[in-house]
Amino acid sequence: MKILRTVDDVRSFREGARGSVGLVPTMGALHAGHLSLVARARGENDRTFASIFVNPAQFGPNEDLAAYPRTPESDLRLLESLGVDAVWTPSPADVYPPGFQTFVNVDEVSAPLEGARRPGHFRGVATVVAKLFNVFRPDRAYFGQKDAQQVAVVRRMVADLSFPVDVVVCPIVREADGLALSSRNAYLSSDERRSAPVIFRALEAGRLAFEKGQRDANSLRRLVSEVLATEPLLEEDYVSIADPDTLAERTFAEGPTLLSLAARVGRTRLIDNVLLGGT
Ligand code: PAF
Repeated sequence: MKILRTVDDVRSFREGARGSVGLVPTMGALHAGHLSLVARARGENDRTFASIFVNPAQFGPNEDLAAYPRTPESDLRLLESLGVDAVWTPSPADVYPPGFQTFVNVDEVSAPLEGARRPGHFRGVATVVAKLFNVFRPDRAYFGQKDAQQVAVVRRMVADLSFPVDVVVCPIVREADGLALSSRNAYLSSDERRSAPVIFRALEAGRLAFEKGQRDANSLRRLVSEVLATEPLLEEDYVSIADPDTLAERTFAEGPTLLSLAARVGRTRLIDNVLLGGT
């Protein structure tokens, strides 16, 4: 597996890559969720590339950039064992050279939910993903459904700016007790870890009510909140019933609908979601 440092390194490696290219963008601290993206990319492309870059532009001033988990050696070992052809591990200056001042804003889709609580987050995500797409020129790029709003932002950007990339969205990978895999799970104490699966139980309660015919969005939101409230270590941030593409809140859960939530467990903020009524 080739380890690439600069934009020029990636460009010249890309020049020599024959056939279709799949890209798995990551911030490292890889877990089975990321590995499922790599496996899918390997199955669908002649060449699989990955990036590992903890992107400062998507962290707010009060967020955990310095503390974000970094496990570069095991990440590289894992990617190599899965047959990845090349990994870009740039420095911040490779991605944001001196004088950098060009950003991508996906206005409306970035505004609610995570965007409202993390100002600038999706501007950072869209900018770095646009840069990755320009540098790698992948045929397909792989993202996890866990970050549902990120998926909506990237899809909108790809459509609006006509990037010739297929955005492939892979299912959420969960622990046996339902907790969605996330690099942030590493921050949970053992008590917090025991509490966190209530998030999955709350989403499941919403999903079951939807499957039994409940379509009133307020009733679904209330039901999910009630299940979250059974766990004293957890504090709800939001429960949303929204259009999966625009993230506009729904009055009725008609057509494909995204049930998503965010909650704090101690100092760790977790997000999760389930798609209702379609894929
Ligand atoms: O989902 C992530 O890990 C990041 O937001 C991404 C897509 C790699 C951009 O930094």
